[in-house]
Amino acid sequence: MKAIKKAVIPVAGLGTRFLPATKAIPKEMLTIVDRPTIQYIVEEVVASGIEEIVFITSEGKSAIENHFDYDFRLDTVLKEKNKVSLGEELNNISNLIDIVSVRQKKPLGLGHAIWMARNVIGDEPFLVLLGDDLVMSGVPCCKQMIDLYHQVGESIVAIQRVPMDQTYQYGIVEGVETERERTFKVKRMVEKPAPGTSHSDMAIIGRYLLMPEVFDLLGKTTPGHGGEIQLTDALLALSNLRGMYAYEFDGQRYDAGDKLGYLKAIVDFALHHRDLGAPFREYLEMICQGCEIPGLEKE
Ligand code: G1P
Repeated sequence: MKAIKKAVIPVAGLGTRFLPATKAIPKEMLTIVDRPTIQYIVEEVVASGIEEIVFITSEGKSAIENHFDYDFRLDTVLKEKNKVSLGEELNNISNLIDIVSVRQKKPLGLGHAIWMARNVIGDEPFLVLLGDDLVMSGVPCCKQMIDLYHQVGESIVAIQRVPMDQTYQYGIVEGVETERERTFKVKRMVEKPAPGTSHSDMAIIGRYLLMPEVFDLLGKTTPGHGGEIQLTDALLALSNLRGMYAYEFDGQRYDAGDKLGYLKAIVDFALHHRDLGAPFREYLEMICQGCEIPGLEKE
């Protein structure tokens, strides 16, 4: 069985759900507590033992590449100011992992973005992480998937249960239980089914472990939902070709590309923060007791 060494992270999207914040800043650079959302994704990849990341980028996304680069000028200034540990922390980010960038020249869909990585990935299984989906968990979500891959040796999509009236927002999987905990054999999948047309509540979240055959299938995939080349459509073909598992991961997922999901992520990540967790909890407890919040009028 081939080892999983590479992860693809598409970051080419325009971030229209977050305008005006994302007019001049990539949505992946929006901050959650003290680091950009993309850093949480990269840290998950690193903690899962991956060696190389492929960013699929587009125009205006250079801030992401710069964030993970070594900044000589900043390093020198921090040393002069005796801020050694902050300098080390920044260098750790740039040393985390090897990063390769590939441009997606036209916004033809998620499936097309992943297909752009075919030459860098080659003939190996690999991970895909979508930057909007943050997962807080004991064992990193990708690591859970790699552990399962070592048992089943096939592609895996991470899923979570969603209310039936929200299935139209996701790729939805129909599958049958296996003898393994949290693991289903995929039978069907459909990208964003029209309301009322799906009988399953198993929604794909942005974590995939894929066999390299997916690239040939993506190359043959015609535009689907929304006129875009959909990853889900190629995954259905891949599951028919060699089988696929859906895995109900252990952890909490946040849709950080949605304003409310982003706020929930900030609150939960702040509560778990080493230095800020305790004082932030105190503050939340205070406002939850009905104390007045400065600047807000009570109804
Ligand atoms: C993408 C996928 C979809 C998946 C979702 C998870 O959709 O196409 O299958 O359920 O991510 O976040 P998007 O949210 O980019 O429209």
